[in-house]
Amino acid sequence: MKFARLGVNIDHVATLRQQRGEFYPSVARAAEVSLATGAQQITIHLREDRRHIQDADVPEVHAVCRHHGKPLNLEMGASDEMVAIAGRERPEWVCLVPEKRQERTTEGGLDVLEAGNYERLAVACKTIKASSPHTKISLFVEAGEAVLQRCLTLPVDAVEIHTGDFARDFLEKKSILPHLERYKKGAHIIKGAGLGYHAGHGLTFDSLLPLLQEGEFEEYNIGHWIIAEAVFIGLGHVVKELNTLIHKYPLKD
Ligand code: PXP
Repeated sequence: MKFARLGVNIDHVATLRQQRGEFYPSVARAAEVSLATGAQQITIHLREDRRHIQDADVPEVHAVCRHHGKPLNLEMGASDEMVAIAGRERPEWVCLVPEKRQERTTEGGLDVLEAGNYERLAVACKTIKASSPHTKISLFVEAGEAVLQRCLTLPVDAVEIHTGDFARDFLEKKSILPHLERYKKGAHIIKGAGLGYHAGHGLTFDSLLPLLQEGEFEEYNIGHWIIAEAVFIGLGHVVKELNTLIHKYPLKD
């Protein structure tokens, strides 16, 4: 039996670190814990504005992945700067994403139908493959038929479907059937062409379930919800430990 792979996106461990300008929490440690407990991949997004993951994190997290024999999936915009970094770091996967400075998070898939974008992506893919032939490339896109057909004309190994709108509709208890229908048609196009079919963005334990039941996506990259949920799974433990320490030292009087 085959199961989907889980890629753990640890960007928001870095968000917490950068928010206070501290050296903790460590993203390398987050990668270590995730891989030691069954994650099949670590995903990090090196953004142009460096709001969470920093340049120095990339080789550190990559070293942890190598130690576990698992892939690093580097999400990035298709800029010259990022393409050069990918060429130097040679991650196992690069996921090309659209990037706007003002957005709070990646807000949708790449517009591969726009001529300028398409050209920029084609050049980025070619340059990455030339400098790092073993790096596989995925494109973060919406599940529209025209978009997916266009992806097949680029030298990529997979697409990652943006599931943000699906996840939002699920949370708001709207119908998710149109999304599932699109994902099924998308699977036919992408898997039929021998490419990987991945998904990510906005997924939670609950919204993942209908996608797992459909059984089309081979990989899920999940971040924000995992880190948010980990806070509550860990909070009580940390409070107990601190309290145990405090109660070893009675007050003077
Ligand atoms: N996949 C891609 C391409 C993304 O840009 C993101 C967000 O950085 C994710 C997956 C993970 O999304 P989330 O943090 O909402 O789970």
